[in-house]
Amino acid sequence: MLAPATVANVVCGFDVLGFALNEPNDTMHLRLTEQPGVTIINEDDYNLPTEPARNVAGAALLAFLRAVPEPVGIEVRISKAIKPGSGIGSSAASAAGAVVGANQLLGNRFSKPELVEFAMYGEEVSSGVRHADNIAPGIYGGVTLIRATTPRPDIVPLSAPPLFVTVVHPQIEVKTSDARQILKQQVPLKLAIQQWGNVGALVAGLLQHDYDLIGRALEDVIIEPVRSILIPGFQEVKQGSQAAGALGGGISGSGPSLFMLSKDEATARAVEAVMHDVYERLGLDHHTYLTTIN
Ligand code: HSE
Repeated sequence: MLAPATVANVVCGFDVLGFALNEPNDTMHLRLTEQPGVTIINEDDYNLPTEPARNVAGAALLAFLRAVPEPVGIEVRISKAIKPGSGIGSSAASAAGAVVGANQLLGNRFSKPELVEFAMYGEEVSSGVRHADNIAPGIYGGVTLIRATTPRPDIVPLSAPPLFVTVVHPQIEVKTSDARQILKQQVPLKLAIQQWGNVGALVAGLLQHDYDLIGRALEDVIIEPVRSILIPGFQEVKQGSQAAGALGGGISGSGPSLFMLSKDEATARAVEAVMHDVYERLGLDHHTYLTTIN
């Protein structure tokens, strides 16, 4: 099965909005084993742990198995196309793919919110926080709003108009845990008002297929000003992409990847050219994806 990359936050919706991409996807093969418990096989050289409790897919599967009354053994073989630490939901893809695959093996006995709950244990292993804004779109597909994660996940799938997504992954490392630690714990009321205006408008813009409103709502006055300093080329990519016709965009999850949304493919290609230009000028290795919301 394929586990998609995801873009969390979608600029203004820190921890509450995310969408799935058509590519890249991890490939995962799961099978039941005689021996109860979880077996992880990593097919790449990313040095990811294989001990289930320390592996994101493993931690998600252990949570899944705790909810299964009979003894069950699951082996998962993971081939990663989504580079760990890229900011497009690599850990979430492993965790979400693992529980979706395991659920299929056991006759789909768990609901999507339950799968989100299990997979969040994987995110906890990776970043120390059980956020669901990569996990939920990974499991539901499309765009999702996470109204709450406690006491249980309350996920709202959102319809959206056709959108092209251009992603650039500059080859630097930004750990989600570090990118969360630098955030301020208090938000001035004035900024909170601006931010919830944008989140509401983005949701409305998506549902009403109102591209202009989507563009206006892609503004983050709380997280981006703090995090963008970690990402070389951020302002140039953003300004250049908007000049090329993108609706808007920003940091994908906690970075370092940046994403831009466009109404049509030609604009998305022009945005991709802007991204190449910026990172070539900075002499920074980078990789781009031109894709759509899945
Ligand atoms: N909402 C999370 C963050 C996403 O921004 O820290 C991490 O991919």
